[in-house]
Amino acid sequence: MLNMELCGIKLENPLLLAAGILGTTAASMNRVLDAGAGGVVTKSFSKEPNKGYNNPTIAEVEGGIINAVGLSSPGVELFKEELSLINRERKTEKSGKNNPNKIAIASIYGSTPDEFNYVASKIGDLIDMIELNISCPHAMVGYGSAIGQCPDNTFDVVNAVKNNVSVPVLTKLTPNVTDIKEIALSAQEAGSDGITVINSLGPGMKIDINAGVPILKNKFGGLSGPAIKPIAIKYVYDLYEDLDIPIVGVGGIRTFEDVVEFLYAGSSAVQIGTAIMYEGLEIFSQINHNLIKFMEDKGFKSIDEMVGYAH
Ligand SMILES: Cc1cc2nc3c(=O)[nH]c(=O)nc-3n(C[C@H](O)[C@H](O)[C@H](O)COP(=O)(O)O)c2cc1C
Repeated sequence: MLNMELCGIKLENPLLLAAGILGTTAASMNRVLDAGAGGVVTKSFSKEPNKGYNNPTIAEVEGGIINAVGLSSPGVELFKEELSLINRERKTEKSGKNNPNKIAIASIYGSTPDEFNYVASKIGDLIDMIELNISCPHAMVGYGSAIGQCPDNTFDVVNAVKNNVSVPVLTKLTPNVTDIKEIALSAQEAGSDGITVINSLGPGMKIDINAGVPILKNKFGGLSGPAIKPIAIKYVYDLYEDLDIPIVGVGGIRTFEDVVEFLYAGSSAVQIGTAIMYEGLEIFSQINHNLIKFMEDKGFKSIDEMVGYAH
């Protein structure tokens, strides 16, 4: 009942792990798949290794967390080993196990179209899709939202990758822009197969009133968790009207009701990140179970029927 397709790739259900949470090793991503996710998005990785920021990188705030991990990455050469160990569809089919339609999406980043292209060209046969992170709100100068806040830079990165890979490409957008439609249309025009919205919001800051300094080592970080959900829903709703390509909704999902809202707004699939810190990995099976019950009660026969229902 939850089976669906995203950019032509079959998925057992619409729940994906969001980038940056439990996505640094194949072992943790396989646990997420075993727990019921239809697919995983890796932690974003780059051409060269990057240490990221020093701790503390995460602080709890009302309604979620702020984080400034700083795009820590082992570099593509090392990370390829992890990608090859993710138990996605093709691998399990070969080994004869019945684990269909579980997918792996590689989240990649860089500072130039060439850097994105280099990373993408190294991993095409190890994953089912690529997600371009051009939206990190606490990245180093020239990375992350510096790209995704500019329609031309967005076009150039998407275009470079699309010209060189055969797997579908999702472009992940930042909410921290004046006009997200302009950026999304630029990505679509450059050939993006889908749009992921939203990366974390802000950035924001929390100050330790005893020490008298910002808690995060980087001082500021992106806000995620339940507080950002209404903003994500609005962006999905608006972009559904403007785009011809599918949308993957992310931001503050914690319950099956949240997933229904995202589907109704126009998401074809969703990603879950921060809520795993509150609910544990059971969140995937619980939401799947409750989603099926909801669909039966309301008479929906497929996820597809729910996508964009609120329009
Ligand atoms: C600790 C942490 C690390 C993250 N790292 C990444 C990352 O590497 N790449 C990326 O595109 N998004 C990253 N994100 C953003 C999430 O993928 C997601 O877009 C955001 O957290 C909103 O979803 P949520 O409220 O379900 O967490 C990170 C978020 C958190 C909390």
